[in-house]
Amino acid sequence: MAKVLLINGSPHEHGCTAAALDEMVSVFREEGIDTEILQIGKKEIRGCIGCGSCMRNGKCVFDDIVNETAKKFETADGLVVGSPVYYGSPNGTLLAFLDRLFYSTPFSKQMKVGAAVVSCRRGGNTASFDALNKYFTISCMPVASSTYWNMVHGFKAEDVKKDLEGLQTMRNLARSMAFMIRAFSDAKEKYGYPEVERGAYTSFPDGK
Ligand SMILES: Cc1cc2nc3c(=O)[nH]c(=O)nc-3n(C[C@H](O)[C@H](O)[C@H](O)COP(=O)(O)O)c2cc1C
Repeated sequence: MAKVLLINGSPHEHGCTAAALDEMVSVFREEGIDTEILQIGKKEIRGCIGCGSCMRNGKCVFDDIVNETAKKFETADGLVVGSPVYYGSPNGTLLAFLDRLFYSTPFSKQMKVGAAVVSCRRGGNTASFDALNKYFTISCMPVASSTYWNMVHGFKAEDVKKDLEGLQTMRNLARSMAFMIRAFSDAKEKYGYPEVERGAYTSFPDGK
């Protein structure tokens, strides 16, 4: 059974971001896709210190929820990352979590379908959406899209329930993801995944 892992960066387990993710889960259920939601927003999650330990050990030097999530991410077919907007960006706890999750995990993320979801009261949503999508688009992860950018509006979950277009966007997003997961699975059987070159790692125009 295909599986989608949903990360909620908000500290509010039943807040606005949760309302958006729940709407997606109801569609995944209809589509026969297994789901797991991880609430990480209240956990003490420190940022990446760039120590490079993960390059040698295949996991983060800070053995916490990041390393626990890595195992779930490895077996998931899709990843949804939900965030409240804090000062025009994804919330800090989530960014600390994602920096370490993506940097420390050696497994291939190729063709795992990614989707970012943001919730704001009023503004900063598209910048936050863009920031989250960057984790996927540096990892050979195709990004699912919907009928609007993946956002809901509200201060409390009840507000999001009134954001009918936001909820519709979530449902359409989940349907797109479900289709993509199935399509990529079939295509893998038929064609195999595309080759990924890794040799070049240049920081300067002259390659030194
Ligand atoms: C520290 C902080 C900063 C915030 N910054 C913004 C912001 O820049 N733009 C905005 O529209 N809402 C902002 N908000 C409101 C939240 O983004 C909004 O209420 C969101 O929907 C809450 O989602 P949640 O219930 O899942 O936590 C901020 C809230 C907090 C606590």
